[in-house]
Amino acid sequence: MRIWLVSWFFFNLYIVTFFSIATLSVSGQCQSDQQELLLGFKNSLNSSLSEKLGKWNQDRDCCSWGGITCDASGRVIGLDLNNQSISGEINNSNSLFRLQHLQQLNLAYNTFISEFPSWFGNLTNLSYLNLSNAGFSGRIPVGISYLTKLVTLDLSSSLFTGLLLKLEKPDLKILVQNLTGLKNLYLDGIHISSNGKEWSQALSSSLPNLQVLSVTVSAIGSLGH
Ligand SMILES: *[C@@H]1O[C@H](CO)[C@@H](O)[C@H](O)[C@H]1NC(C)=O
Ligand SMILES: *[C@@H]1O[C@H](CO)[C@@H](O)[C@H](O)[C@H]1NC(C)=O
Ligand SMILES: *[C@@H]1O[C@H](CO)[C@@H](O)[C@H](O)[C@H]1NC(C)=O
Ligand SMILES: *[C@@H]1O[C@H](CO)[C@@H](O)[C@H](O)[C@H]1NC(C)=O
Ligand SMILES: *[C@@H]1O[C@H](CO)[C@@H](O)[C@H](O)[C@H]1NC(C)=O
Ligand SMILES: *[C@@H]1O[C@H](CO)[C@@H](O)[C@H](O)[C@H]1NC(C)=O
Ligand SMILES: *[C@@H]1O[C@H](CO)[C@@H](O)[C@H](O)[C@H]1NC(C)=O
Repeated sequence: MRIWLVSWFFFNLYIVTFFSIATLSVSGQCQSDQQELLLGFKNSLNSSLSEKLGKWNQDRDCCSWGGITCDASGRVIGLDLNNQSISGEINNSNSLFRLQHLQQLNLAYNTFISEFPSWFGNLTNLSYLNLSNAGFSGRIPVGISYLTKLVTLDLSSSLFTGLLLKLEKPDLKILVQNLTGLKNLYLDGIHISSNGKEWSQALSSSLPNLQVLSVTVSAIGSLGH
C-alpha cells in the first residue's frame, strides 16, 4: 500500500511538473526587441481610453499584456486590439510593421485616421488581418497582395464615417491574384472600381478556397455592367 501511495505521489508530481513546463514554454518570455516594438507602437498612439493598451508597461513580460499572443520563444505572433478606442496616425514608420512574426492582427473598430499604410504588406506571415472600421482611408495598397498566407481578410467598414477605402490601382483582380489561401473576404463599404463581372471573374479564378465573401449592395448593383 505504501509503495503504491509513494508511486502515486511521484506520478502526480511528474504530471504537475510536465504541465508546468508545458505551460511555461507555451506562453514564452517576451523577447526584448519585441517589447520595444510594442511600446513604440503604443507611444505613437493615443491610448488614454484603451483598457488593454493603457496597461502595457515595462514591469511585466510583454507576452502577458492584454491583446498579445507569443510563440514558445517569446516572439509576438498575435495582436488583438479591436474596439479599444485607440486614436492616432499609423504610417509606414510605425514599429508595428517590424513585428514580422505576426500571424494574427486585429485592429478593428478604432480611429486610426490615416491613409492606409502600404507596409502592412511587410507582415508576410499574417494569416488573419482585420482592419474593419479601423479608420483607414484612401487606396488599399498593393502590399496587401503580398500577404500570401492570408486566410481571413476583413477590410469592411459599416460605420458611416465619411472615410472611404478604394480598391483601384491595384484593382480587386491584382489584389487577390496571389491570395490563393483566402477563405473569408469582407469588403463591405469599399469602393470597388472594377465592374461586377470583372471582379466576380477575378474572385472565382484566383480564390479556389473562398468560403465567405461579403460586399455591399452598391458593389453588387454594378454586376450587369
Ligand atoms: C508618422 O507618424 C508619427 C506618429 O506616429 C509622426 O510623428 C510622424 O511625423 C509621421 N511621419 C510621417 C512621415 O508622416
Ligand atoms: C487622447 O484622446 C482623448 C479622448 O479622445 C482626448 O481627450 C485627449 O485629449 C487625447 N490626447 C492627446 C494627447 O491627443
Ligand atoms: C465595442 O465595445 C463596446 C463596449 O465598450 C460595445 O458596446 C460594442 O458593441 C463593441 N463593438 C464591437 C464591434 O465589438
Ligand atoms: C517594408 O517593405 C518595403 C518594400 O516593400 C521596404 O522598403 C521596407 O524597408 C520594409 N520595412 C520594414 C520595416 O521591413
Ligand atoms: C513565418 O512562418 C513560418 C512557418 O510558420 C516560420 O518558419 C517563419 O519563421 C515565420 N517567419 C517569421 C519572420 O516569423
Ligand atoms: C473583425 O473584428 C470585428 C471586431 O472585433 C469583428 O466584429 C469581426 O467579426 C471581425 N471579422 C472577422 C472576419 O473576424
Ligand atoms: C504574384 O506572384 C507572382 C509570382 O511570384 C509575381 O510575379 C507577381 O508580381 C505577384 N503579384 C502581386 C500583385 O503581388
